[in-house]
Amino acid sequence: MRFGTTTVFSGFSAAFPAARVTALVGPSGSGKSTLLAVMSGYQTLHSGRVELRDGLAAEPLPPNSARVAWVPQGSNALGRRSVLDNVMIASLSAGMSLKDGRDQAKDALELVGLGALMHQQARRLSGGELQRTALARALASGKQLILADEPSANLDAENTDLIAKILDGLTARATIIVATHDPVLVAAAAGAVHMRPGVRIAS
Ligand SMILES: Nc1ncnc2c1ncn2[C@@H]1O[C@H](COP(=O)(O)OP(=O)(O)OP(=O)(O)O)[C@@H](O)[C@H]1O
Ligand SMILES: [Mg+2]
Repeated sequence: MRFGTTTVFSGFSAAFPAARVTALVGPSGSGKSTLLAVMSGYQTLHSGRVELRDGLAAEPLPPNSARVAWVPQGSNALGRRSVLDNVMIASLSAGMSLKDGRDQAKDALELVGLGALMHQQARRLSGGELQRTALARALASGKQLILADEPSANLDAENTDLIAKILDGLTARATIIVATHDPVLVAAAAGAVHMRPGVRIAS
């Protein structure tokens, strides 16, 4: 992966098993967020390829944001909308009817322990609750690959444990890749993939 003359990573190869949580680890700047963006189809590799393998399909699929839920670093909540709206936006944009989209969003919020807060404005949520809202949104999209970028950043130990448990619980419905520096999330994952800093050529 290159930006201009800067190589972020090269010679990197990894497989992420289905229906598991895999931690993506490596020092700051090693390309974790960039790799997640590539796997979501938002960034294009300079060379090499990413293949999504669906058990039922004969051919691997290219990365495509329609198939992958990307939970970016930091909160992306719409502060003045309700928690439910913030999650429903995913199920509705996945093409569900209003009723199904609302049901799916409520279900996702229950799963992350936010059922009681669904009618609250998102701007009133704590950092941990915002992270859980972002995970619920990914879940409500119905996509089978969820890429979470540092979902426990700035959280205390209790909320980090909660995120680890939630991620584990999501494997019944999706494959999870979580970029993280957090030893608690790494320990809770079924496996880890390590990224090393790339060769840097000054531009
Ligand atoms: N659009 C871009 N243009 C140029 N350089 C970029 C771009 N996006 C990322 N980079 C560079 O690529 C490198 C990898 O960035 P990335 O955000 O993927 O790292 P990371 O492993 O997620 O780090 P962190 O742990 O701090 O989140 C960094 O040096 C960054 O400056
Ligand atoms: Mg990052």
